[in-house]
Amino acid sequence: MTQQTVIAPSILAADFGKLVEEIQRVPEADWLHIDVMDGHFVPNLSFGLPVAKSLVGHTEQHLDVHLMIEDPEHWAPDYAQDFHSVTFHLEAVKDIDAARDLAATLRDAGTMAGVSIKPNTPVEPLLDHLDAFDIILVMSVEPGFGGQSFMPEVLSKVQLLRSRIDQEGLSTLIEIDGGIGVDTAAQSAAAGVDVYVAGSSVFGAEDPTAQVEAIRQAAESASSPTAN
Ligand code: DX5
Ligand code: ZN
Repeated sequence: MTQQTVIAPSILAADFGKLVEEIQRVPEADWLHIDVMDGHFVPNLSFGLPVAKSLVGHTEQHLDVHLMIEDPEHWAPDYAQDFHSVTFHLEAVKDIDAARDLAATLRDAGTMAGVSIKPNTPVEPLLDHLDAFDIILVMSVEPGFGGQSFMPEVLSKVQLLRSRIDQEGLSTLIEIDGGIGVDTAAQSAAAGVDVYVAGSSVFGAEDPTAQVEAIRQAAESASSPTAN
């Protein structure tokens, strides 16, 4: 499939006291990104299934769950019912076979299955297994906190993914998460990203909708011409 431009504001940067109102500030966003942190896999705690589920029914937007948790085999299937995509971390499962198995379980339950890698995790072990996943989420900051600076060195992993996905004609989406604003979205687009997660740059903006559109514009203009 050709490179996409999907903008996914992260509610981690929204006001948790009024989440439903907050998501209504970004009606033009394609997806909403929901960061679940357990205080073990990452040194921070956000929220779990009941809070994530409180958004269901309040929007038609694609709800994209990013699980930064230990033992995703136990918890991830519970999210498959209500959310359009569920992404777990490769570092949180035993090996690539376990990741394939969990992705298959998620797909069978009717959701898109994603796997994520931290900035220091190599992408090579995934390259022969891309068909097993609907999303590869490349972290461009250390997971755990919003508001960190983008790490451009992860873009070489995006380039490897883009060329393999295009070579094999797969529909797997490449998602980038951490430090995304207008400039870093453009850099990511040039490397081959499809899905742009943006937390503080969107919810910290005076006009979140204008920021979503500015990111979209930057990404579309910089998307790789060979992939489109
Ligand atoms: C970080 C989360 C991100 C976070 C991004 O661990 O996975 O989704 O919300 O926030 P910004 O866009 O502020 O870097
Ligand atoms: Zn995230």
